[in-house]
Amino acid sequence: MAILKIARMGHPVLMSPAREIANPTDPAVHALINDMVETMLDAPGVGLAAPQVHVPARIVVFHIPEGRGGEGEGEGGVPLTALINPKIELIGDEVEDGVEGCLSLPEMAGTVSRHTRIRYTAKAPDGSTIECEATGFHARVVQHECDHLDGILYPMRMTDLSTLGYSEEMSKGIEIEDGPVDGPVDGPEEAADARAD
Ligand code: NI
Repeated sequence: MAILKIARMGHPVLMSPAREIANPTDPAVHALINDMVETMLDAPGVGLAAPQVHVPARIVVFHIPEGRGGEGEGEGGVPLTALINPKIELIGDEVEDGVEGCLSLPEMAGTVSRHTRIRYTAKAPDGSTIECEATGFHARVVQHECDHLDGILYPMRMTDLSTLGYSEEMSKGIEIEDGPVDGPVDGPEEAADARAD
């Protein structure tokens, strides 16, 4: 087990399609999955795709924390899951906006529209076939992670780039709006800042 280095946006491995895995039960595949899980939990993140650890292979791992499962899936979340050669089928036309982050764009977040309901199939590490329907956050995470296998990062899915930013900055709000509109400010610097925006 090892914590692997995570590639950041701009690295070519994140921008190209990943290769199919010929044998899901290959011990080398299992070793990679174990390292991906350790890396994801350390980050911490809810999902990770192999290209994010510089391996152009069609493998993703994820887990959905308790209370964030989709509708009809209870609040229990989804345990640690590894998908090998996953394929997604979008169900219906319903989409919803949600704020996403990515370990390859550290400290940033942006609003992405995703299908609310999907069906996915994949191979499990034991060679069996996984078939699952997912909704809500579960569906969002699987769509985000599988996009990595096709060289797509979430900003490439965004339609309103004004919602992209550093999470820490976005949580600050605009303090000037809370004060009196024409009231006094503390000093010349604050006055200049207020005018600037
Ligand atoms: Ni990501």
